Amino acid sequence: MSFCPEPGLQEVVEAARGRNLFFSTEVEKHIAEADIVFVSVNTPTKTCGVGAGKAADLTYWEGAARMIAAVSKSSKIIVEKSTVPVKTAEAIEKVLKRNCSDPTVEFDILSNPEFLAEGTAISDLTCPDRVLIGGKDTERGRKAIDVLASVYAHWIPEERILKTNLWSAELSKLTANAMLAQRISSVNSISALCEATGADIQQVSNSIGTDSRIGPKFLNASVGFGGSCFQKDILNLVYICESVGLKDVAKYWESVVTMNDYQKQRFVERIISAMFNTIKKKKLAVYGFAFKKDTGDTRETPAIDVCRGLMADGAELCIYDPQVSEKQVRLDLATPKFEWDHPVSKASPVSDDESVAIVKDPMEAAKGAHAIVVLTEWDEFKTVDYQAVYDSMVKPAFIFDGRNILDHDALRAMGFIVYALGKPLDAFILNGPAA
Ligand code: UGA
Repeated sequence: MSFCPEPGLQEVVEAARGRNLFFSTEVEKHIAEADIVFVSVNTPTKTCGVGAGKAADLTYWEGAARMIAAVSKSSKIIVEKSTVPVKTAEAIEKVLKRNCSDPTVEFDILSNPEFLAEGTAISDLTCPDRVLIGGKDTERGRKAIDVLASVYAHWIPEERILKTNLWSAELSKLTANAMLAQRISSVNSISALCEATGADIQQVSNSIGTDSRIGPKFLNASVGFGGSCFQKDILNLVYICESVGLKDVAKYWESVVTMNDYQKQRFVERIISAMFNTIKKKKLAVYGFAFKKDTGDTRETPAIDVCRGLMADGAELCIYDPQVSEKQVRLDLATPKFEWDHPVSKASPVSDDESVAIVKDPMEAAKGAHAIVVLTEWDEFKTVDYQAVYDSMVKPAFIFDGRNILDHDALRAMGFIVYALGKPLDAFILNGPAA
């Protein structure tokens, strides 16, 4: 994965490093000395065995717990930072207790899930909507919660520090991501209906967002949600529901992912049908590969499925993204689902598919292309010289805006045939070449 620095992170690290922030590889020594241990290891989706494709793989968590138990000579608070299935704390407590040779050592496990989003992580950290701390409903458990709350109280008002039981905290993290993703899938489903009826998804989103019970955030229709968390967490939730026999609940949440896949597929099909039902050997410029703007992160980016769909129909892609490297794009296009989250040794070979080129300039990407396909909402795509781009393209020149960030009327005035997701369709897109 090609990661660019999180905005503001450098400054935070520079201010604290050597003062109260130290990096070390002497894990065992520092764990032995610590009073509180935050465990932030990866919990990827299992790729094989029971629950493959849905359940979280807790190998790293269990390994961390075994190591903590082995080196601990004093009691500690263990904080779950990683997103984990409900009841992980219970399993981890057993591992800790059974593997610690000193019977006087006690472990208090707390769940303190992370709600930071990429690109805004530092402001989410300094000014969060809430901090959630879950612990056991016992005197010891409540004391442990208060100790951790006192750390956050240095910069977060008391009323924003929510204290719950362990299972509620673990489940709240999965539910928060599932609800956010569900909003996007709901809006995306309505975007299809808008196209069929002549309504405009942005107008619908604005209208419903003014209802204070719904609120305006996370109502932007898109080519699909991506990122390392939404799909993974929903599938984990689905697996948990299935494991406790709640089949209908599992199906309900799984439909959020199904709708996301449908949206990506629908977008690919629109492109193909609008372009005379064939994109074979046609050059298509792809603007954006990251899962959202201001990051080079491509984990579960909708661009992977859309590009694969276009390639399956024989298109020749020329991809431009301001932050994603050629190596990363090729790796992503060649890596099977869920494998990205597993150790590098398992990473698949880099695709050398000649039907894909990766360039460093949006003009170059579009030169001689039949269409531009916008997959990430980068601000710089709004200021491209589209007249010059149009002049360099094969006619009719199409733009498929999967994020609704461009000035569609201006593009139409230049001569482009524009597809704007969830908006009234151009006659050409609606009726095909006959129009
Ligand atoms: C998400 C959550 O927002 C964080 O609260 C959470 O802590 C994090 O996952 C996590 O579990 O680690 P993140 O994945 O960084 O954060 O990004 P989001 O801003 O939530 O966007 C996710 C995806 O939804 C992106 O592909 C974005 O383009 C898409 N999206 C977002 C839409 O399609 N429409 C919208 O209206 C909003």
